[in-house]
Amino acid sequence: MKRQLHLNLFIHSRGHHEASWRHPDTAPLALTDIRYYQDLAQRAEAALFDSIFFADQLALGGDVAQAARTWLEPVTVLAAIAVATNRIGMIATASTTYTEPFNLARQFASLDHISNGRVAWNIVTSWLAAAARNFGGSGQVSHADRYARGEEFMTVVKALWDSWAEDAVIDDRAGGQYARAERIRPINHRGDFYQVAGPLNLPRCPQGRPVLVQAGSSDTGRRFAARHADAVFTAHVEKATAQEFCADLKALAAAEGRNPKEVLILPGLSAMIGSTEAEALRLARAVDDLTEPEVGRKRLSNRFGGHDFSHLPLDRALAPEDFPNPDSVEAARSRTEVILNLVRRNQPTLRQLLGYLAGARGHYVAAGTPEQIADLIEDWFTDGAADGFNIMPPLLPAQLDVFNAEVIPILQHRGLFRAEYAGRTLREHYGLPMPKSAFAG
Ligand SMILES: Cc1cc2nc3c(=O)[nH]c(=O)nc-3n(C[C@H](O)[C@H](O)[C@H](O)COP(=O)(O)O)c2cc1C
Repeated sequence: MKRQLHLNLFIHSRGHHEASWRHPDTAPLALTDIRYYQDLAQRAEAALFDSIFFADQLALGGDVAQAARTWLEPVTVLAAIAVATNRIGMIATASTTYTEPFNLARQFASLDHISNGRVAWNIVTSWLAAAARNFGGSGQVSHADRYARGEEFMTVVKALWDSWAEDAVIDDRAGGQYARAERIRPINHRGDFYQVAGPLNLPRCPQGRPVLVQAGSSDTGRRFAARHADAVFTAHVEKATAQEFCADLKALAAAEGRNPKEVLILPGLSAMIGSTEAEALRLARAVDDLTEPEVGRKRLSNRFGGHDFSHLPLDRALAPEDFPNPDSVEAARSRTEVILNLVRRNQPTLRQLLGYLAGARGHYVAAGTPEQIADLIEDWFTDGAADGFNIMPPLLPAQLDVFNAEVIPILQHRGLFRAEYAGRTLREHYGLPMPKSAFAG
């Protein structure tokens, strides 16, 4: 069988376009209504997606007056989606900076049990400066310290997930023995940031441990992903940088002694699909016309750790000097580089830059026919830029429905995407082995 694509649906607001929430083709339900998310997950499952994904920030954005987001807390949402679906994997974001490892290990192990092995954790260190103000107020932890803490966090949660052997529970009613105590071990972790005795207070989860997803693309972020991630989300506005990222991350994973094929690279793709290219462009323009440049300006400032862009005129060509040096940014460093590369390459005006970022915040944006979108997916997939895609429909559910009805059959016809689910767990959909138990051997 040909190498198979992996598709994840990134569920965000009423679509990834910044103005999607205003668009008449998007869902009528409130963004706090769980039926909206359950319905999207069911549509993605009917189309045989590997997984769905929810991002998360730990602070209210400053642009709430004119921007709508996915408000519900993702771990809670996954529990509700788990009982409304059967096969699709599901990924929730949670922070290593603002969570205790014991809580997180327990929540995700619970979700893995609730979903019968379909859960993944998107590991973030939380780049948003405003989040720090909601957790103790001692200021933002630096980029380097966030990753150092994240590294120790991973050691702890992995040990907790490993603290029960697979066969620890026997549930022998007649014999009066529930569990083999000798098959459950404390972890006795004492490190720089965490002191955790363990063991976890629930049995080993169906996937051994949840699938691990990561999305940092800075040098430190890449090394972290190479050590821990089963799948990696990444944002690129051109194929060449995606190829460079893929090659680099696979080499780093190999250097960590891992099989590079077991680290899936999933760049974002936000496609506006029409029956003709002209129609797709018209649809894209219609939603672009609903954007508000001042919302984009605030978001740009957030990306650059609160840098003030208020003095920049909207209609003069931008230069790299208009931006702070990415190395000095304590926020989402890799995305600032994506933005600066775009400025170096195209010298857009601020209005044009904000227009592009409104599409999908620095991910690849395309408009075209189903054939053109399938060609693009196949080209990146076969040319070393991706193992699959993080599908980010600009309008939900309208553009997801078009993707499912028109693009997926082309990919299936080309032998690039499954015609039915073969596995039951997310690990199986992603083609990943079970992690070795610490009790093995
Ligand atoms: C598709 C995608 C989704 C992300 N989701 C989140 C998120 O939900 N919460 C968050 O704090 N960061 C999120 N990030 C940001 C990364 O996890 C990472 O924190 C950011 O890129 C900064 O790390 P870096 O400086 O190593 O790149 C996401 C990134 C990508 C590409």
